[in-house]
Amino acid sequence: MSAGEMASTGASPVALAARRLLSAKTESFTESVIREMTRLALQHDAVNMAQGFPDFPASEEVKEAARQAISDDINQYAITWGAKELRDAIARKFERTQGVRVDPEREITVCCGSTEAMMASMMGIINPGDEVVIFEPHYENYGPDAILSGATPRFVQLRPPDWSFDREELSRAFGPRTKAIIVNTPNNPTGKVFSRQELEFIRDLCVRWNAFAVTDEIYEHIIYDGAQHISMAALEGMRDRTITINGMSKTYSVTGWRVGWAIAPPEASTSIRKVHDFLTVGAAAPLQQAGAIALELPPSYYQKLAQNYLAKRDRMLGILSAAGFRCFKPAGAYYIMTDISNFNFAGDDLSFARYLVEKIGIAVVPGSSFYDDPSQGASQVRFTFCKKESTLAACAEKLAKLRPASASASQLL
Ligand SMILES: Cc1ncc(COP(=O)(O)O)c(C=O)c1O
Repeated sequence: MSAGEMASTGASPVALAARRLLSAKTESFTESVIREMTRLALQHDAVNMAQGFPDFPASEEVKEAARQAISDDINQYAITWGAKELRDAIARKFERTQGVRVDPEREITVCCGSTEAMMASMMGIINPGDEVVIFEPHYENYGPDAILSGATPRFVQLRPPDWSFDREELSRAFGPRTKAIIVNTPNNPTGKVFSRQELEFIRDLCVRWNAFAVTDEIYEHIIYDGAQHISMAALEGMRDRTITINGMSKTYSVTGWRVGWAIAPPEASTSIRKVHDFLTVGAAAPLQQAGAIALELPPSYYQKLAQNYLAKRDRMLGILSAAGFRCFKPAGAYYIMTDISNFNFAGDDLSFARYLVEKIGIAVVPGSSFYDDPSQGASQVRFTFCKKESTLAACAEKLAKLRPASASASQLL
């Protein structure tokens, strides 16, 4: 670009030089608000109710399996698409829990967390011009997943209090360009568990428009009040058009291990495996070995997990209601979306979240980070409750300083 051209754009040479070096794709999404909140929590010594990582120990049996794998010198690259023992265990568990039989040799790709599994899946199926339907509020990675893979997102609202969707609106979002819909059940951030009827409605649209369902089922075992987790792949007609994403992070309380997987029909798996190979080569070999042990844990492990989280959910609902939040009771996952309108706060969710972290000492996630149009989340913030009792108690103590009914906007500010 000539000096004259630079002058005509009004941008400084430094800014222009920087812009030339950066990807336009990354400019369109902001840094993760959730991780930003975690940073602020550390800075203000606040209780972190923002990021969904457990602060209690993982199971001894699973940790011992990892230690043993390292002692056994399972220290080199595993097979790119996943250690055979783990893929076999994933296939057995999927059949045991959902009745879906898959071929571990051709239909499973182990990745660095379900985050990579989702990205590799999207990159493996998307072509220029393709559209992807995404429910919102949504887990914040799905927007960037769509952008990085080159898909155009089509957002469809889940509406409180029950986070149901309008069937007409969903039908309108599908069309000849639709390559896939992302379904996250149990859902982050709402706690919604999609019903069989809802999944069947989505199934019919996928069949009609020849689209994939990419399902994020990472909270499959964290489920309350008799709700049932149904895998889309288990529905008649969906086995061969579903990519099921899952991982160890939440079920075994090991978010830092980075072991996840994609279960997909053979042609899609071939494509996903190629992307995965060039992105990361493979997930940590000894931790995959521990995964093979974890996935064989007896049903009592999963019952206890759900029971423990049920107690935490109810405790947290009590804490938040007492502090003046209107809570949307989750049927699954470990988050509570709240409505902050009661606080008459003279600002939006972002300023409220900043106030909470700086003045009250609690980090939360502002609702806007779950929506394409931030204004839709302006009266919501999300709390996580995957925390030990002492953390929940500290949260209760800090939130006691909030006085919603009596506090005017200026008092709060
Ligand atoms: C819906 C959802 N999917 C995926 C992830 C990330 O999973 P992983 O640790 O396996 O990458 C999270 C983490 O919070 C999540 O909430």
